Amino acid sequence: MGPGLTVVILAAGEGKRMRSHRPKALHLLGGRPLIAYPVSLGRRLGGRLVVVVGRGGEDVRRALGGAPDIHFVEQKERLGTGHALGEARSACGNGSGTIVVLPGDTPLLSEATLRRLVDAHTASHAAATLLTAMVDDPTGYGRVLRDAGRVTAIVEDRDASPQQKQIREIGTSVYCFDARRLWRALDRVRSDNDQGEYYLTDVIGILRDQGQPIEAVVTDDPTECLGVNDRRQFARLGALLRSRTLDRLMSEGVTILDPATTYVDDTVSVGRDSVLSPGVVLEGATEIGTECTIGLGCHVSDSRLGDRVTLKPYCVLSEATVEDEATLGPFCHLRPLSHVGPRARIGNFVELKKSRVGRGSKVPHLSYVGDATVGEDVNVGAGTITCNYDGVAKHRTRIGDRAFVGTNTSLVAPITIGEGAYVGAGSTITKNVPPGALAVARGRQVTKEGWAARRKKPGKGSGA
Ligand code: UD1
Ligand code: CA
Repeated sequence: MGPGLTVVILAAGEGKRMRSHRPKALHLLGGRPLIAYPVSLGRRLGGRLVVVVGRGGEDVRRALGGAPDIHFVEQKERLGTGHALGEARSACGNGSGTIVVLPGDTPLLSEATLRRLVDAHTASHAAATLLTAMVDDPTGYGRVLRDAGRVTAIVEDRDASPQQKQIREIGTSVYCFDARRLWRALDRVRSDNDQGEYYLTDVIGILRDQGQPIEAVVTDDPTECLGVNDRRQFARLGALLRSRTLDRLMSEGVTILDPATTYVDDTVSVGRDSVLSPGVVLEGATEIGTECTIGLGCHVSDSRLGDRVTLKPYCVLSEATVEDEATLGPFCHLRPLSHVGPRARIGNFVELKKSRVGRGSKVPHLSYVGDATVGEDVNVGAGTITCNYDGVAKHRTRIGDRAFVGTNTSLVAPITIGEGAYVGAGSTITKNVPPGALAVARGRQVTKEGWAARRKKPGKGSGA
């Protein structure tokens, strides 16, 4: 967009209707904080970006990753949307140009619609151009008043007369203003309404009284303009966003067996011909390759899966990396910084943490592998535990390529099992095992021939 364009996002509201201790801007929708949606839209539009935040806007700034390109303005007292925009005045440069206003809580607004609004504004030289929508249920929204087709004012729901409440055209809180005329009109906004707030919506009536031209663009898709004020609306929009994300994935070639029970964040990518089973949840910065199978009830967050990876049912992964053709589960848990190599197999009831399992290695059953480096083609028997914690510090376990660890083994870290070494089943290993060696560390078996019969001598009571 040309020079002289400033996008102001109003996000200082307390979100009273959320009944939350956190600012509404930070509540997650589709895996992102609510504020991330208008910010991303504003960035795509270009120009200067100003975000009005409430007291302690630090949290919001942090949620946006610092965002050096944004001018943050703190609205110390929440006196309404008109007051919020007024606080942004000096950050906007105070002078001429175009001001685009976006509410912080209308996450589905599309770039195409916003550009249509800006283009209409640029073409008409109006003082204000507002985005409106025709909705079936306008309850809670400001109503657009028109006279002979021209917009004359916006009246808030709580201040509207019974006749005005019948109006189905609503203001969306998305506007384009000519800066000079906006600031002049904003100075005249008063707080003589039901809430005692300075309403930005009043600027429209003021401009009209000043004889300034006002234009409106009616959106084709009212769902784009839905605001989120309470948790019910959050859930409803979350569902809308989710079905959009699933539609996008399906159009990109992903099979989704049951969209009704599949939850995928907008931030997730899934490759072609991968299959998502019912009850799958994919969150955050998750990337899944092509031809993967994600089984029933798997929960994957912030993880990267290569191609042709199989997750059998009920795997839980967070901040994990899984390379091509590995197979996981059912019922395994990959905790942060787990790395499973190509064609490796992690079986049922196995927990990995901060560990690498090399190419083709197997940890098939009932194991805990923490702070470990497991080489290639290693077999880790059922029930193997890395004893990584001595009550004070964590220690590493290293298992060399092609080593074989027998079942029910405890590896007391720090410990190294050399390449190609064997560990006998049921061992508690406390000393390093050299490459190619066999280590057995368990009580020797004692066998007493005929013992059972001797114990059951006739006439004697039990327990003798
Ligand atoms: C607002 C509009 C309403 C419109 C609706 C569309 C006003 C007075 N009303 O109502 O006409 O139909 O949006 O969704 O503008 N904010 C601040 N500081 C404040 C108050 C609010 O930054 O002091 C921010 C909020 O964080 C929010 C946005 O402004 O992102 C809108 O405020 P909100 O309280 O949600 O207004 P609505 O009641 O939804
Ligand atoms: Ca709102």
